[in-house]
Amino acid sequence: MCSIIGYKGQLSVAPLLVDSLKQMEYRGYDSVGIAVINNGKVITKKGVGNVSDVAEKFDLGIMPGHTGIGHTRWATHGRVTEENAHPHYGCTNSIAIVHNGVIENHHELRDELMGLGHIFKSDTDSEVIVHLLESYYAKKDIKKTTIETCRRLTGAYAFVAAFEDGSICGSRCDQPLIIGSVDRGYFISSDVLGFLKYTDKAIFLHNRDIAIIDSNALQIFDFEGNAVNRETTQVAWEVSSLDKGKYAFHTLKEIHEQPALVKKAGIKNSNKIGEFCNILKNSRTVYITASGTSYHCALIAKYLLSNFAKIHCETIVSSEFQYTLDGVDNSSVLLSISQSGETADVLEAVRAAKRIGSKILSIVNIPTSSLARMSDSFLELECGPEVGVAATKSLTAQLCLIYAIADRLCDYSLGFQTNKIFLAEASREVLDQETEIQTIASKLRQARDIYLLGRSVHYPIALEGALKIKELSYIHAEGIVAGELKHGPLALIDKNTYVIILNPDDRTHCDNIVSAREIKTRGATIIGISNKPDDAYDMLLKLPSIKKNIFYPIIEVLPLQILAYYLALVKNIDPDYPRSLAKSVTVK
Ligand code: AGP
Repeated sequence: MCSIIGYKGQLSVAPLLVDSLKQMEYRGYDSVGIAVINNGKVITKKGVGNVSDVAEKFDLGIMPGHTGIGHTRWATHGRVTEENAHPHYGCTNSIAIVHNGVIENHHELRDELMGLGHIFKSDTDSEVIVHLLESYYAKKDIKKTTIETCRRLTGAYAFVAAFEDGSICGSRCDQPLIIGSVDRGYFISSDVLGFLKYTDKAIFLHNRDIAIIDSNALQIFDFEGNAVNRETTQVAWEVSSLDKGKYAFHTLKEIHEQPALVKKAGIKNSNKIGEFCNILKNSRTVYITASGTSYHCALIAKYLLSNFAKIHCETIVSSEFQYTLDGVDNSSVLLSISQSGETADVLEAVRAAKRIGSKILSIVNIPTSSLARMSDSFLELECGPEVGVAATKSLTAQLCLIYAIADRLCDYSLGFQTNKIFLAEASREVLDQETEIQTIASKLRQARDIYLLGRSVHYPIALEGALKIKELSYIHAEGIVAGELKHGPLALIDKNTYVIILNPDDRTHCDNIVSAREIKTRGATIIGISNKPDDAYDMLLKLPSIKKNIFYPIIEVLPLQILAYYLALVKNIDPDYPRSLAKSVTVK
């Protein structure tokens, strides 16, 4: 996904745009660009690199004018080059655009427009938007121009255009676009973080809305040209939550926020958790869907709801959901989990289930996200904005909500509410081992392969640890069901291999020690994550013993997050913005 921003108002636009792009850089950081309108001229500057580097190289912050648009790119169509960076401007340089999403029919539109004499400067799908706008702009009627253009586009998109007359307009179709209203001016952005520093008054555009900001202030229309009203929402987040404070990176700050999250989990949502439980209890089957880290939470949700609440559950990774719809029907419940609430695969799964008549429950971090608005009921994570691309605190907040739901479904016999404070202290105890974990990271910096083993409810955490190591350190890592080792993966193990075993002292412990001994005979280096030392381990990341074993996933994921973080540092990788990734994947 990319970040797009626009502003029209009294203030000097360029420094605002640079600052907003910095706040949203986690959305994509391949290349950056700005276009401003000054004295009827469209001035565009762009380059490859992150916001700070490109802003410095091209003096983006001192560009003139009070109207402008900006973009940070996460490349989907066309390589990472200056030509493919946004904004894109047309043949007459009277319009510039920034775009987030994918224009599916860009090939045929490009051929048609080239046939009309348009000259393309990039390989992107996005550039067709500006040439289309240009082809309808002869009469200088921005409303008509934008409506005609949107009618020609297919795909999931949000774009903002700046016109030579100083107007800007934006439109969305299955990609987020939000207006921020400030004193004598407006922002338009793909993310509230783009303007949260200046206002908490947000207008969330609905699908197929067009917003025009010109001398007549703000007007919103639908694709038929009818004026529509959209409510103003007060954004709950504090801009201070975006500050890294004493931490070098957002990822480490967010890792250290987790003990406090465990302590307060489920309090604000208590009523809604009751509502969730009633819907879950009365469903024939609960399908749980998500992507990435959220999917690892979904696997633990299935384990808890089926084993403790005796509710029949199926987990389906969202990108596969469309191929496994057989059992889903109007008596099913779809529980979707997503930090951003904008992940395209998750939204696609929800649309498919809605078409069949299933009830939609969701767990999201952004209450104004598309997923929250598509759901019959949703629960908020209450963990504040998560800026680091690697999900850390959002997983812990998701896990705590799932434990709170399972606890409620079992009339509190699971003991999550009564153990929360203790678990928060145990989490803090684990985080206090940061230096020891950093030492282990430096020993693993040359690792070629790292395998993570776990059984039962620990297996999803093995998957999560592998994902964190992959996305933060670029080291090949794989989560394996420990019992499957002998059925193949054991062949991968040799003296150059590192194996991390998630092995708290519960019913999986003995079998894991047997696996550890088998691995040891192949010469691998074993790191145990456990509350019980064993000489099978070459290194131990000690967990505090906790009363109820079922809660170990909440604390055993923490050393893996810190390990991945320090592996990134020892390899000189920016842990907040790993290559080729984006905070929420809004394209399929
Ligand atoms: C996890 O660290 C990654 N950022 C990624 O796998 C992420 O979990 C996935 O894209 C799902 O995002 P969501 O929770 O916002 O839907």
